[in-house]
Amino acid sequence: MDGTVGLLSDPLGGTGRRARPAGVVAGSPLTRIAGPADALAWVADDLLVAETTLRELIHSDVAAVPQVAGWLADAGGKRLRPALAALGARAVGYDRPYTRLICAGELIHLGSLLHDDVVDDGAMRRGRPAAHVVHGNAVTVLTGDFCLARAVLLAAEEGGHTCVTELARAVTEMAEGEVLQLRHAGDLSTDREAYFEVIDRKSAALIAWCCASGAWAAGKPELAAALERFGRGVGVAFQITDDVLDYASGTGKSPGADLRQRKVTLPLIFAMEADPGLRDVLALGDPDASAVPGLLERVRATGALDRAQQEAQERVEDALAALGDLPAGTGRDALGALGRYLVERSI
Ligand code: IPE
Ligand code: IPE
Ligand code: MG
Ligand code: MG
Repeated sequence: MDGTVGLLSDPLGGTGRRARPAGVVAGSPLTRIAGPADALAWVADDLLVAETTLRELIHSDVAAVPQVAGWLADAGGKRLRPALAALGARAVGYDRPYTRLICAGELIHLGSLLHDDVVDDGAMRRGRPAAHVVHGNAVTVLTGDFCLARAVLLAAEEGGHTCVTELARAVTEMAEGEVLQLRHAGDLSTDREAYFEVIDRKSAALIAWCCASGAWAAGKPELAAALERFGRGVGVAFQITDDVLDYASGTGKSPGADLRQRKVTLPLIFAMEADPGLRDVLALGDPDASAVPGLLERVRATGALDRAQQEAQERVEDALAALGDLPAGTGRDALGALGRYLVERSI
């Protein structure tokens, strides 16, 4: 990986460099988790194997497929979904090898990002030009389809019937969320309820599946339900933070992409409440590229980013309550630590 934008490179140490806390044996049931770095260190070996497995999974004898998927996979990324899946599997005591299963969520994520950057006309992803910029829309969309289908096959092979059924349901929700968001773009009357419906489907559904996948594979539906509740809550909070970070720089993506397309995310809802003149400006149409930096500053000046971030924090705290239904142990503590990090991150 380039390692320029990975969770695992900044601030927590790269995938290949993530240190295990002193004296800690990976997977030991009594490891003390002091924060997200410890949580990731606890599953570092799994994540390293998953990197190799991911490359195998995007392999195809149609050379353009691994080329396009590899363009995105090799650029880094936080690998949050495999980390959550590994921690979820450990938290429920899943006792079979799971390094293939934890790749399913990342493969779905890769497919959805390939599609998303075409839909959003996103220029940069993971610190590089987006795949469609380099390889063109058609092959990028089709490679996205490959990733989605490959992931579903993998979940069937590794997780069984409920696991794959739930994944198919999550992917359906993701598509609905993306379509809904497109439908709302430019509609400045979009309210909180509509916003949360979009992000619950487009982002939280997959994060919830990742958290619960090991429990479904283990045949433990009650624990899967608790992990899903946790994943939904942190997934919503994660997307709020993503929407706040659209107003920041240094994320590996182009700042202001949402504002440019007048996507009414939580920060913009709060900003228009505080500064109604902003709504009047945006009502004139999609802003010119030259106007975007000034508008970003105007949104920041309202305090909307802090307000949205505060809401993300509250949602994480609610999500953490769901972990109370899991067996006490390192897996549960590590999920909590990573959940908190999802809204504290700056990339
Ligand atoms: C970006 O996800 C897309 C969203 C659902 C918000 P990530 O922030 O996990 O992206 P990478 O994998 O680290 O690039
Ligand atoms: C990404 O949503 C959600 C999915 C890929 C399904 P965004 O469009 O908000 O994500 P970024 O900001 O481009 O990563
Ligand atoms: Mg996007
Ligand atoms: Mg999008």
